[in-house]
Amino acid sequence: MTIWNLGSINADMIYDVPHLPGPGETLSANRLDRFLGGKGANMSVAAARAGTRVAHIGAVGPDGRWAQDRLTEYGVDTRYIAGVEVPTGHAIIAVDAQGENNIILFPGSNHAITPGQLGQALSSAERGDLLVMQNETNLQVEAAEMGRDLGLTVCYAAAPFQADAVKAVLPFLDFLILNEVEAEQLRKVTGQLVTDLDVEHVIVTLGSKGARYYHRGAASDFPAHKVQAVDTTGAGDTFTGYVLAGMDRGMPMAQAISQANRAAALMVTRHGTADVIPDLKEVREAQFD
Ligand code: RIB
Repeated sequence: MTIWNLGSINADMIYDVPHLPGPGETLSANRLDRFLGGKGANMSVAAARAGTRVAHIGAVGPDGRWAQDRLTEYGVDTRYIAGVEVPTGHAIIAVDAQGENNIILFPGSNHAITPGQLGQALSSAERGDLLVMQNETNLQVEAAEMGRDLGLTVCYAAAPFQADAVKAVLPFLDFLILNEVEAEQLRKVTGQLVTDLDVEHVIVTLGSKGARYYHRGAASDFPAHKVQAVDTTGAGDTFTGYVLAGMDRGMPMAQAISQANRAAALMVTRHGTADVIPDLKEVREAQFD
């Protein structure tokens, strides 16, 4: 099976700062690193490192060839990434001493994906494949509708969260992942609790507390592993990529989520995004308290 990921590709400029800057503040960073990132690229790399075949549908500008090459190097099928005349997306990320972050996104080429490109990519998909989207590209609704019509398992990671964007894809979804604050925001917009949604699989992430999984409304909890976090950036994407990989490989959901919890716990102990996502061997061998 294949995971088709309509996903963003960013250059992540990660600034190590003593604290997150406030309004009007000028702050010196201790260090700057560039990583491959974007919620989409992070999920593709996570799913590939979890042992699944992943085809990424996206776009990079003339300055983004390196990002596409790196995705290829990490085992992602990049034949469906278009080269466009719009600068590649980037993210300016501040990470403080506690590992918390804030992120400024420049969408760039992530919003230059064409319907023709999407249709051509998905014409190679097979019934039973997974399709995943996040909220950092254009064409989410078109992709979700196409995915449903093709008999794909349609998945949505509601990040960065916008209630209207989730509402628009909701009728097509088999899987939704969001955090607890977002679940409450979605309730305000739709009037529905997560248990009322007509979506077979819903995961509500609970940060350092772990995740709650709802299968047709019935809940089970998956506590997080306790680790010393140095950088939480990309941990949620790693979790989602590992869950999707588990689903794609036919794992019971409980096993997929437990493995994803281990991957996310390991990820927060590392600085950086896609380039440092742990592989399956590291995830299986990690020791937690
Ligand atoms: O979730 C982390 C990601 O958000 C970063 O890689 C950044 O590019 C933004 O998309």
